[in-house]
Parts: sequence; structure tokens; C-alpha cells
Amino acid sequence: MKPLYALAGILFCIPYSSLSAQECVECHRKVTPGIVRDWEQSKHSKDTECYKCHGIRHKSEKDVDKVLTVTADTCANCHEKQVRQFKKSKHAFAWGTMKAMPTTHWKPMELIDGMKGCGGCHKIGLKSEEEIKRLKKAGSGFGYASCDACHTRHTFSVKEARQPEACSTCHMGFDHPQWEMWKTSKHGVRYQLKRLGKLPKDSIAPTCQTCHMPKKNHDIHTAWGFLAVRTNGLAPYPGESKEWWADRVTMLKGLGVLTPEGKPTPRLDVVAKAQVARLSAKEWDQERAKMLKVCTQCHSSHFAKSELAKGDQMIRQVDKLMAKAIKVVAGLYKDGILKKPETYAFAYPDLLTFHDAPTPIEMRLFTMHLKHRMRAFQGTFHNNPDYALWYGWNEMVQDLREIQEMARQMRKEKQ
Ligand code: HEC
Ligand code: HEC
Ligand code: HEC
Ligand code: HEC
Ligand code: HEC
Ligand code: HEC
Ligand code: HEC
Ligand code: HEC
Repeated sequence: MKPLYALAGILFCIPYSSLSAQECVECHRKVTPGIVRDWEQSKHSKDTECYKCHGIRHKSEKDVDKVLTVTADTCANCHEKQVRQFKKSKHAFAWGTMKAMPTTHWKPMELIDGMKGCGGCHKIGLKSEEEIKRLKKAGSGFGYASCDACHTRHTFSVKEARQPEACSTCHMGFDHPQWEMWKTSKHGVRYQLKRLGKLPKDSIAPTCQTCHMPKKNHDIHTAWGFLAVRTNGLAPYPGESKEWWADRVTMLKGLGVLTPEGKPTPRLDVVAKAQVARLSAKEWDQERAKMLKVCTQCHSSHFAKSELAKGDQMIRQVDKLMAKAIKVVAGLYKDGILKKPETYAFAYPDLLTFHDAPTPIEMRLFTMHLKHRMRAFQGTFHNNPDYALWYGWNEMVQDLREIQEMARQMRKEKQ
């Protein structure tokens, strides 16, 4: 605990805690009995009373609006280290990256600010004071604490956070089915058999946390990240082939980070600030070294290196297909078969429009990118042959054929 906070705590708690800390609990035993029961079973029940997170200004049903907003900074009063690490992690950017997508604000606000869709997962990200004010005004009551994403209130249990299920609500489904991939990989199956008592208690079986939170570190990052785009400044990552770099440049145009002529756009700043791509070889190498250290707790370094390299090479393969497909659609814009939509900055396909893409051929391109490309390389890294092949690579091959055919038809109709 920070000394200053402890001092302030003592000053304002002594006259207060003996009386009212108990009052919160007594009244809430009637109002929200489940919450009190969870808190009583938590480590916080010893001396982290309700008011230490929610404040002291609310005392009855008449002043519920005076309850303090709980944020990661509230937790930082006593868990400075975890909050410091978390603030550097990719998770901390989650609210901002969601908001930065060009068509997020087209969707029903229930799904975004209401946190029932995109916002339901991306609420793990930090929000500024102004953003919280804006959200409250818009009627969004909760979802500002970030830290309760893995150890949920009011048990705030470390045991809960250590289970792979703690990650599953968000890391599943359409574009990031890591839960499904891990669960049916040999790593996940061993873990489940261990839990069932079929494998010895001390047998080895890595969970999400083993690989992504080594040493309990709340600063979660990977080498490639979600989009799997790396550069070294505006140059290729050292040692990459010319062909791969050319494909990546096409991908960066499709992401709207480069203009169709290859010049940086304002989106590059957004991408750099929120770490959406790895823009220096050093950063990438650091994360890869960390991961390799994790694998070698169990595997030989020779084995682990070659397994990880297969993931890298799979990205090269999927980029080749992706660049081909982007060029097919870009050609339609170039030849005037498709007209630049008003919302577009360039006459070029924009992968970041998600399902709000303006034409069926571009929706198909989006699915190829976000659903199938992701599955192909994520499945490779998570040792899930079915995702890598059937749900990933093969779907991409099919997407490309059909995009080529759709383009052919569109050109024919224009003649
Ligand atoms: C005399 C009863 C009473 C006391 C004492 C009391 N509360 Fe409440 N509290 C309520 C009621 C009633 C609500 C509203 C419940 C509802 O919306 O169903 C509430 C709501 C809350 C909420 C949820 C706010 C929201 O927006 O949903 C929090 C958090 C809370 N109280 C914390 C505290 C804390 C901390 C204390 C002690 C400092 C405290 N309460 C003392 C009755 C009380
Ligand atoms: C360690 C911090 C912490 C402590 C201690 C704590 N809470 Fe909370 N509480 C939270 C967080 C975080 C939220 C979610 C806030 C958000 O999403 O904006 C919350 C939300 C709530 C809510 C509204 C959400 C709901 O599910 O209804 C109530 C009511 C509440 N707390 C009551 C209590 C009571 C009563 C106590 C004491 C027995 C207590 N809290 C102790 C952190 C705490
Ligand atoms: C006023 C101080 C204080 C605040 C504020 C506080 N905690 Fe704690 N927390 C503690 C103490 C004390 C422990 C018990 C440490 C121990 O016994 O090892 C603890 C333990 C924990 C643990 C470990 C529980 C376990 O099962 O071992 C977690 C997780 C945790 N807190 C999360 C949070 C989160 C998240 C918040 C903010 C929503 C928060 N805490 C706010 C004081 C605080
Ligand atoms: C992505 C999931 C996740 C999020 C988000 C998260 N934690 Fe944790 N936390 C964990 C895991 C997993 C552990 C257990 C690490 C271990 O013991 O191997 C843990 C452990 C802890 C502990 C116990 C540390 C110890 O040494 O025993 C505290 C305290 C804690 N977290 C606080 C926080 C706070 C505060 C936040 C918000 C900044 C937060 N956590 C956000 C997953 C998370
Ligand atoms: C055996 C170690 C291991 C386990 C277990 C594991 N991962 Fe991964 N994960 C990796 C590797 C390796 C990468 C690729 C790292 C890189 O970019 O170099 C990765 C990448 C990721 C990424 C970035 C996108 C991607 O998929 O390539 C996310 C998100 C992720 N993992 C989440 C999870 C979740 C959630 C779980 C549990 C359901 C999990 N991982 C289990 C090793 C693991
Ligand atoms: C509440 C939802 C939620 C939970 C729970 C959650 N995550 Fe995440 N995670 C996200 C989001 C959203 C992102 C993307 C962040 C962004 O937009 O910048 C992400 C990103 C990641 C990444 C990618 C990092 C990179 O370099 O791009 C990894 C790895 C990861 N999470 C691991 C985990 C693990 C392990 C757990 C469980 C211990 C977990 N997450 C729990 C929502 C969640
Ligand atoms: C089921 C939970 C969930 C939903 C719903 C969701 N996301 Fe995500 N999002 C994640 C996770 C988890 C990641 C990180 C995955 C990874 O690294 O493999 C992520 C990654 C992202 C990224 C990439 C961040 C980066 O820096 O790499 C963006 C942008 C994004 N989501 C925007 C959105 C938008 C916009 C929506 C709604 C249309 C949405 N998400 C819906 C969980 C979700
Ligand atoms: C906690 C120990 C542990 C860690 C950490 C770990 N593994 Fe494993 N791994 C295992 C075990 C146990 C098996 C199953 C037995 C076997 O096939 O060797 C396995 C199997 C594998 C397999 C074979 C899967 C199959 O279907 O045949 C690959 C590939 C693999 N691991 C790669 C990795 C990589 C890459 C990392 C680091 C990102 C990693 N592992 C981290 C324990 C671990």
C-alpha cells in the first residue's frame, strides 16, 4: 500500500469505518445479499471494506448517484504494481482501438457504449476521465474498472483469474477463437485431463496464463499481435523476402495505413499509438524472446524455435493470398467498376469497415481477412490443425476464387 494513501486512509477511516463500514454491509445484506456474500468470502473482507472502493458519500437509497466510480486507479491505491503493468499492456488500449475503427459509430450504441457487443469485450481497456463522463451522460452505468475482467467482483479471486476460462468470454468466436483452439489442442486437452485427475497433478500442461502472463506479469503483449503486421520503421523486418514485403505493403494499403500510392496516412499515427502493428524489429524480437523462454520451460529450444517459425511462415503464406485478393478489388476501383464511396478516403478497398463494407465483394474480402486469415495463423500458433487448415487456409483459398469470380462478373456486367 502507498504510504500516503495509508495515512489518508487512517485519517478519514478511523471516525468512519467503525460505524459506517458496517452500515454499508448491514443495509446491503438486504439490498444486494449476493454481493455481500461474495465480498465476505474474499480476501478483501479483512480490511478492504465497501467504501474503500465505492466511497462514503452514498449512505441510503436517496443518494445512490453519489457512489464513486471504480476504475483501475481505485485498485492502484493498494495494488500499484499490477496496475502499472496493466497500463502498459495491450489490454489497456482496448477501448481506444475499438473507438478508432471508422464505422464503429454506425452501429447501435447499445453494442458499443452500452457494452453489449464490441464494448462488452473492449471495456477491458482504460477510459479517460472525460470519456467516463461522456459515457455516464449517455446513460452507460458500469464497465469502468478494467481489473474486474479476469478476477470478477466481488470475490476478486486470484484463483479465478488463473483459470483459462477467465479469458474465454472475450477470446472466442469470429476473429479470435483462441479459446476454442487451445481447448482442443494437445495443450488444452492435457490441461483438462489433469483437472479430471486422469493425468498426475504435477504433470505439465500450459494454459493461456502460462504462455501470456509469465511471472504473473499483467503487461500482456505478443510479437505479432492481432493483425500480424510488422515493419521496421517504413522498411521491412530484417531478412524478410522482397515478395513478402510487397504483399505487406498491399495489406497496409488495404488497412488504410498507406495511400494507394504507398504514402503514410493519418491512420498510421493511430496504429502506432495503440500498438496495432509492430513497427520496430526490436519490439518484435523482445516479445518473441519472452515467448521462447516460456516454451523452453517444457520443450527444447530447438523444438520451440522451429514450431514458432512455422507460425511466422504461415503468416507469409496467408499474406500472399490476401494481397492477391486486395489487388483484385483495388483493380475494380482503378478501372471505375466500383466508385469511391463518400465515406472512403481513397478509391481502394478498406478492410477496417468490417461488416459495414459497401459492396458484397468487399464484405467477402473483409471476412477473408478478419475471420479466415486470423484462424489460419492463430491456429498454427495455438497448435490446432483443424483451425489452421479447414477453418483458416482452405476458407481463404475459397474466398480468393470467389472474389476473382465476382470481379469477373462485375466487369462483364459493365461492358
Ligand atoms: C440504508 C441502506 C443503504 C446503506 C447504508 C448503503 N447503501 Fe448502497 N445502496 C442502497 C440502495 C437501496 C441502493 C440501490 C439499489 C438498487 O438500485 O436496487 C444502493 C446502491 C449501491 C451501489 C450501486 C450503485 C448503482 O449505481 O447501482 C453501490 C456500489 C453501493 N450502494 C455501495 C454502498 C456503500 C459503499 C455503502 C457504505 C458507504 C452503502 N452502499 C451504504 C442502500 C444502502
Ligand atoms: C475492491 C473494490 C470493491 C469493493 C471492496 C467493493 N466493490 Fe462493489 N464494485 C466494485 C467494482 C469494480 C464494481 C463495478 C463498477 C463498474 O463496473 O463500473 C462494483 C459494483 C458494485 C455494485 C453495482 C453492480 C451490481 O452488480 O449491482 C454494487 C451494488 C456494489 N458494488 C456493492 C458493493 C458492496 C455492498 C460492497 C461491500 C460489501 C462492495 N461493493 C465492495 C468494486 C468493489
Ligand atoms: C484499500 C486497499 C485495497 C483496494 C482499494 C483494493 N484491494 Fe485488492 N487486496 C487488498 C488486500 C489487503 C488484499 C489481500 C492481500 C493478501 O492477503 O495477500 C487484496 C487482494 C486482492 C487480490 C488477490 C485475491 C486472492 O484471491 O488472493 C486481488 C485479485 C485483488 N485484491 C484485486 C483488486 C482489484 C481488482 C481492486 C480494484 C477494483 C482492488 N483489489 C482494490 C487491498 C485492496
Ligand atoms: C487478463 C486477465 C487479468 C486482468 C485484466 C487483471 N488480472 Fe490480476 N491477475 C491475473 C492472473 C492470471 C493472476 C495470477 C497470476 C499468478 O499467480 O500466476 C493475477 C493476480 C493478481 C493479483 C495477486 C498477485 C499476487 O502476487 O498474488 C492481484 C493483486 C491482481 N491480480 C490485481 C489486479 C489488478 C489491480 C488489475 C487491474 C489493473 C488486474 N489484476 C487485472 C489476471 C488478470
Ligand atoms: C503454449 C503457449 C500458448 C498457450 C497455452 C496459449 N497461447 Fe496464445 N499465443 C501463443 C503464441 C506462441 C502466440 C503467437 C505469438 C507471437 O506473435 O509470436 C500466441 C498468440 C496469441 C494472441 C495474439 C493473436 C494470435 O492468436 O496469434 C492471443 C490473443 C492469444 N494468443 C490468446 C490466448 C488465449 C486466450 C489462450 C487460452 C485460451 C492462449 N492464447 C493460449 C502461445 C500460447
Ligand atoms: C473482457 C475481455 C477480455 C478478457 C477477459 C481477456 N482479454 Fe485479452 N484482449 C481483449 C481485447 C479487447 C484485446 C485487444 C486489445 C486492443 O484492442 O488493443 C485483447 C488482447 C489480448 C492479447 C493480444 C496482445 C497483443 O499483442 O496484441 C493477448 C495475448 C491476450 N489478450 C491475452 C489474454 C489472456 C491470457 C486473458 C486471460 C487471462 C485475457 N486476454 C482476457 C479482451 C479480453
Ligand atoms: C467477444 C469479444 C469481442 C467483441 C464482441 C469484439 N472484440 Fe475486438 N477484439 C477482441 C479481442 C479478444 C481482440 C484481440 C484478439 C487477438 O489479438 O487475437 C480484439 C481485437 C480488436 C482490434 C485490434 C486491436 C489491435 O490493436 O490489434 C480491434 C480494432 C477491434 N478488436 C475492434 C472491435 C470492434 C470495432 C468490434 C465490434 C464491431 C469488436 N472489436 C468486437 C474481443 C472482441
Ligand atoms: C507447461 C509446459 C509446456 C509449455 C510451456 C509449452 N508446452 Fe507445448 N506441449 C506440452 C506438452 C505436455 C505437450 C504434449 C506432449 C507432447 O506432444 O510433447 C505439448 C505439445 C506441444 C506440441 C505438439 C502438439 C501436437 O498436437 O502434437 C507443440 C507443437 C508444442 N507443444 C509447442 C509449444 C510451443 C511453441 C510452446 C511455447 C509457445 C509450448 N509448446 C509451450 C507442454 C508445454
